[in-house]
Amino acid sequence: MNEAGPVLNYEARITGTNGYEETAGSDVIVITSGKPRAPGMSRDDLVTTNQAIVKSVTEQAAAVSPEAIVVAVTNPLDAMCHVAKAACDFPRERVVGMAGILDTARFRAFISFETSASVRDIQTLVLGSHGDQMVPVVSASSVGGVPLTRIVSNETIAAMVERVRKGGGEIVNLLSTSAWYAPGAAVAEMVASIVLDQKRVLPCTAYLEGEYGIDGLYMGVPVRLGAAGVEEIITLDLTADERAALAQSAQAVRDVVSILG
Ligand code: LAC
Repeated sequence: MNEAGPVLNYEARITGTNGYEETAGSDVIVITSGKPRAPGMSRDDLVTTNQAIVKSVTEQAAAVSPEAIVVAVTNPLDAMCHVAKAACDFPRERVVGMAGILDTARFRAFISFETSASVRDIQTLVLGSHGDQMVPVVSASSVGGVPLTRIVSNETIAAMVERVRKGGGEIVNLLSTSAWYAPGAAVAEMVASIVLDQKRVLPCTAYLEGEYGIDGLYMGVPVRLGAAGVEEIITLDLTADERAALAQSAQAVRDVVSILG
C-alpha cells in the first residue's frame, strides 16, 4: 500500500506490526481477523472459529486504545459485532459493523449493469443481516431520482435482489476466498466518516435497542457516522413487506447469535 502511494497519489504512512502496543491510542480499530469463507460455506459456518479469533483480537486491541471506535468486518458479521462488543465492553455507539455499504454497493453495481446508468446516480439501501436474509429496500432505490420500480420490471428487480443476497458467495466461488476490494472500500468509507467527522448517513450494522421494533440485536440500519461513532440511528418508513423481511432477518441473526453461548 505504501509503495502504490507514489503512483496513486496518496502519502499516508502505513506501519505493519505484530504487536498490539504499536497500535496504542488508535482512534479507530478495524477488525478483519478471522477465517474467510471457502466455496460451499455460508457466512454462518464460521461462527465458532471466528468467535475465538475476534474475541482475542478485540480484547487486545481495545485494551491499548480504550477510546477507539471498533469497526467489525469479520463474518458472520452480525454475530461478530456481538462478540466484539462483549470483548471490549464499549458503549453501543463505539462498536459498529461493516456490511450495508458493501451490500448496497453490490445492488448499485447490478442496477447499473441493468440500466446503463452511472453508479453515481443510483441510490439504494440494503438493511438487515449480512446474510441470505438481508433486505434490499426496493422502495428506497432510485436512478437519478426516478424510483427503480418505474424503470425496471419486478422480475428483473427480484433477480437483482437475489444476486445481491448471494453476492458474497458469487465472489467466493470465483476466488475460493472472500471478497476484499469492495469490503475494503466500504470500510474505508466508514473510517473516513468517523475520522473526518463527516456525519455521513450510511447503512451499517448497529446495536438496536428498540429501533425498528428490534431490541438487543446487531442489524444493518442507516446510521449517522461521525467522530463519536454511531451518532444516530435513522428510522425509515418501510413497506409492510420490508418490515416483515426485516423481522425475518432479525430472527436469522438471533439464530446465529444463540450459537455464541
Ligand atoms: C462478502 C463477504 C465478505 O459479502 O461477507 O463478500
